[in-house]
Amino acid sequence: MVKSLETSQPELLKPGVKAPVQETLLTPRFYTTDFEAAAQLDISSQEAELLAIVEELRADYNRHHFVRDEEFQQCWDHIDGETRVAFIDFLERSCTSEFSGFLLFKELSRRLKNRNPILADAFNFMARDEARHAGFLNKSMADFNLSLDLSYLTKNRTYTFFPPEWIIYTVYLSEKIGYWRYILVYRHMEKHPEHQIYPLFRKFESWCQDENRHGDFFKALLRSQPQLWNNWRARLWVRFFLLSVFATHTLTVFERATFYQSIGIDPREYNTRVIQETNNTAARAFPLILNTNHPEFFRRLEKCSDLNLKLAEINNSNRSPVVKFCQKLPLIASIIGHLLQTYLIKPVDAESLRGTVH
Ligand SMILES: [Fe+2]
Ligand SMILES: [Fe+2]
Repeated sequence: MVKSLETSQPELLKPGVKAPVQETLLTPRFYTTDFEAAAQLDISSQEAELLAIVEELRADYNRHHFVRDEEFQQCWDHIDGETRVAFIDFLERSCTSEFSGFLLFKELSRRLKNRNPILADAFNFMARDEARHAGFLNKSMADFNLSLDLSYLTKNRTYTFFPPEWIIYTVYLSEKIGYWRYILVYRHMEKHPEHQIYPLFRKFESWCQDENRHGDFFKALLRSQPQLWNNWRARLWVRFFLLSVFATHTLTVFERATFYQSIGIDPREYNTRVIQETNNTAARAFPLILNTNHPEFFRRLEKCSDLNLKLAEINNSNRSPVVKFCQKLPLIASIIGHLLQTYLIKPVDAESLRGTVH
């Protein structure tokens, strides 16, 4: 059985409004970028593809999807104990990360409006989708008598600056991993309706198509910038971003093992499958992907997760800061060592696979 972090009762900002989780390396980030450089991106080599995606986004296939139908109109007090706490935590992190996408896309669409109309339109439609996703999750939190104050979050979260190139790599990956995370939960629920504890999961099939379209937009944007994939430096960055996203995913899934177990999902299998599928999908955009079949790949990532759980235990203990620091240092060094070893595993060339992957 996988050991996860102990979950405590949610802290409140005011009655019914949940205090945001403490920011760590693993909580969803809020991004800002160099909007001037983004406006100057030359997208001409992929213009036809990008225009086609913008038209798909404009069509707004999920216009009528995010409706809280009758199924939601009931009391959810029977979801209680650890499952309730873990589920609220899942809703909060999902809501925060959807909302983070909304803020970035909205700002990009606003700043690019008169400079790069194709990109501005795309960001505007994607912001619309992410606002719906975040809003729907926040209403789900309200079913548990809690909500997130999104304007408080907007003002009080730290914004991480990423140049447009890094935004393209990370948002591409987060959209595609988001797609796989949602669709795999949906398919699990289809096979095991007894675990359908709350109707949100039923919405994931069409919902994840939004993430898929967002990912396709970022793929076309990435391919329009040859410097992001056709040289050795880009290959090193791609490896770095793939590994960062996969390592973060592993750590967060194992931290929240209780939640996955409560809906009948084996966290280890789920993590492995999400990473393998996302990695395979990334072969359509990136010049290389990671060798997830290497025997050391998941072994080392899971080792990082064990060490991360030990770090959390130390953080939550009553020991003095000095003792905590001394106990944490070798664990952090060991995590870095494992990640470095994983980074050095020979990657799989994707340019030669292109055209054969689906
Ligand atoms: Fe989304
Ligand atoms: Fe998205």
